[in-house]
Amino acid sequence: MMGNRIVKLYYQECGTGLPVIFLHGFLLDHTIWHPLIPYIEQHARLIMPDLRGHGRSPAIHGIYAMEEMAHDVINLMDDLQVEKAILAGHSMGGYISLAFAHAFPQRLAGIALIASHAAADTLERRHGRYQTANIVRKEGLLSLAKDMAAQLSSSPENQAQLFAKISQTARQGAIGSLIGMAERFEALPWLSEIIVPSLLVRGSVDELVPIERFQEILNILPHTHVVEIPGVGHMPMMEAPQPLAEALQDLIIRVGDQPE
Ligand code: MLT
Repeated sequence: MMGNRIVKLYYQECGTGLPVIFLHGFLLDHTIWHPLIPYIEQHARLIMPDLRGHGRSPAIHGIYAMEEMAHDVINLMDDLQVEKAILAGHSMGGYISLAFAHAFPQRLAGIALIASHAAADTLERRHGRYQTANIVRKEGLLSLAKDMAAQLSSSPENQAQLFAKISQTARQGAIGSLIGMAERFEALPWLSEIIVPSLLVRGSVDELVPIERFQEILNILPHTHVVEIPGVGHMPMMEAPQPLAEALQDLIIRVGDQPE
């Protein structure tokens, strides 16, 4: 049953103010947010976990449903006595943020989707994830790491860092996440339930999240702020931390202005 296999997440935190929980994407870890810290730590309490199966958090067996990953986040909030938080989810972290918004609306103060979207996988994409999971099961992550790092960022320096993170991820973390993402639900049907301030950020040359995915969200949540960062790919927190921090700061102010 969902929520029975809660995992205690490793996390790092800094800053003071409204809590913002940063959820990294597939095969990454909390360190992707480090370039953002100097621009934002004076404005908020930044809580940066490693998702299950990633970084220093435990890699349990089985499928990592987005809803279960959202339960891990609630568990972390309970441990830290955080009643409500803004969730800033990058890519897969965005899928988890949306699952969280659906399951725990009373614990959500605001939501930012960074290089992420609300659609489910196409059949083709789902099939590709199962194939990739089989390759990882047999060969580990090395063969995947180079291609994926190149897809995430065009900067050689970022690619080297990303390659190191991806290739160090536990096989089980990769497999559980791949199948969890393949089986995730489309969030568009219930998106109108989101009544807290929201933000969408994408790099203009992100190959993984086309601009149409943002339009689908805007059709349902027209008050969402949208920021497109020119010349940036799938990793705005590494490639353009200052504009991303400014967009997040605006979200933090909008959340602070909400009536209790
Ligand atoms: C991610 O960066 O988390 C993944 O690219 C998301 C996905 O594969 O859908």
